[in-house]
Amino acid sequence: MSIDHPSFGKLDDSRIIIFDTTLRDGEQSPGFSMNMQEKLRMALALTELGVDVLEAGFPIASQGDFDSVKLIAETVRGPVITGLARTGRADILRAAEAVAPAERKRIHVFLSTSPLHMKYKLRMEPEAVLQLTIDSVTLARHHTDDVEWSAEDGSRTDPDFLCRCVEAAIRAGATTINIPDTVGYALPEDMFRIFAMVRERVPGADKIVLSTHNHNDLGLAVANTLAAIRAGARQVECTINGIGERAGNAALEEIVMAIRTRPDAVACKPTIVTENIIKTSKLLSTITGFDVQPNKAIVGRNAFAHESGIHQDGVLKNAATYEIMTPESVGLLKSSLVMGKHSGRAAFRDKLRTLGYGELGDNQLNDAFRRFKDLADRKKIVYDEDISALVDDEVLRDHDRIRFVSLDVRSGSKAPPRADLELEIDGVVRGAHETGDGPVDATFNAIRACFAHDATLSLFSVGAVTEGTDAQARVTVRLMEAGKMVDGQGADTDTIVASARAYVHALNKLLVKRARTEPAALSA
Ligand code: KIV
Ligand code: ZN
Repeated sequence: MSIDHPSFGKLDDSRIIIFDTTLRDGEQSPGFSMNMQEKLRMALALTELGVDVLEAGFPIASQGDFDSVKLIAETVRGPVITGLARTGRADILRAAEAVAPAERKRIHVFLSTSPLHMKYKLRMEPEAVLQLTIDSVTLARHHTDDVEWSAEDGSRTDPDFLCRCVEAAIRAGATTINIPDTVGYALPEDMFRIFAMVRERVPGADKIVLSTHNHNDLGLAVANTLAAIRAGARQVECTINGIGERAGNAALEEIVMAIRTRPDAVACKPTIVTENIIKTSKLLSTITGFDVQPNKAIVGRNAFAHESGIHQDGVLKNAATYEIMTPESVGLLKSSLVMGKHSGRAAFRDKLRTLGYGELGDNQLNDAFRRFKDLADRKKIVYDEDISALVDDEVLRDHDRIRFVSLDVRSGSKAPPRADLELEIDGVVRGAHETGDGPVDATFNAIRACFAHDATLSLFSVGAVTEGTDAQARVTVRLMEAGKMVDGQGADTDTIVASARAYVHALNKLLVKRARTEPAALSA
């Protein structure tokens, strides 16, 4: 039976809405925070991927969150743009204001309904929770026709009370009802039962979209999502690479490819451009500095690699022997050779467009082009990944207060390592010469000498952007200060320079974060 939806019009039974929450639930998790430009870039990539709903953030959480949601609402065309809100008036008005510029907008209101959450987190009686559900959805409906209501900790909620809340939210005007497995506790059969029960018992449930949102604490998020779809859920909430609170959320790429690979078991059609999956996954890794594990389904480095002789032999004879989907279907192509050192600015600009950077300003283009030429002098082959890494380093950082200028390091077995460093801080160049327990330590000491701060280093990791001994190193540096954590990334063919860039990036993020206020209770 079809549903008339305010944002999507007639939705027939086979339609499944992909609701991406990489920029909200994903971004909320430790180490995955993004700045406004990074969020916009990710939002544009998600749009190209074809997501139906883009949860751009939690506008009340901070000025930065509000600004990012608003910028995405102003700029991104295609998906419905949504902002999260608790049930308070201030939350809902802030979300309404942030999504107002969007072509199609949604307010997503959530409230806990489980006995545990009501008693200890909300300190509210069930009847008050019911009333707050009605009031908050009613208020949100004054600002948009497309309102989603979520029963936080829904999978651990008393079934009768869950049905009463869902019914009340529908009567108040919610057009999507989401029943999350907030703590990743449910098994697939629980999710199937909950969705089947709501469809059967709640009047009006056939007129709205039921949505599923699963966390991965027991590694069951995708299985639970598929079970909910089979029981009638028409919207799935998910994130790229499965990032999210604690063990993460259900991974978009896994859900979509499971549906595509097993139409016999899951009868619905997502409108995702699957060929963009790898590209989007890599973009997220580049922005956050965290690669997925090699054996990660769909997007891991080994997901399509066949190591054993028997498997290789089978695949050569017929790929279907060991491949249930083709690498091309998720956009896994061989690294493409881009350009050499003789390539011109026009070709470079064109390449940046195809890599999803849109139109860069003249200064940004000049900076990026200069670094590309420099890289092409040092590195035999320049791949797309190299270009992305250097542009992310240079172009997305033009609001940074501290900028890397130069580094000269002496190290080896004869004398203590020494770093001569120059940084530009608020437009003024400062230099320092320091020694240390190794070249990286000397470099970080020099950074501390140029810009005094109390943050401590809690993670230092080095990876390679591509293969080969001349590959660029991609370094991630994590700093902690007064309970605040930030990750910075840097790339360069010189690992020590990449480390300095990563440290400086982290410092810049810390400066932005110092100005941010965190919301009282973001438990979702
Ligand atoms: O996990 C959760 O319950 C959430 C809600 C806000 C949807 O993220
Ligand atoms: Zn969640």
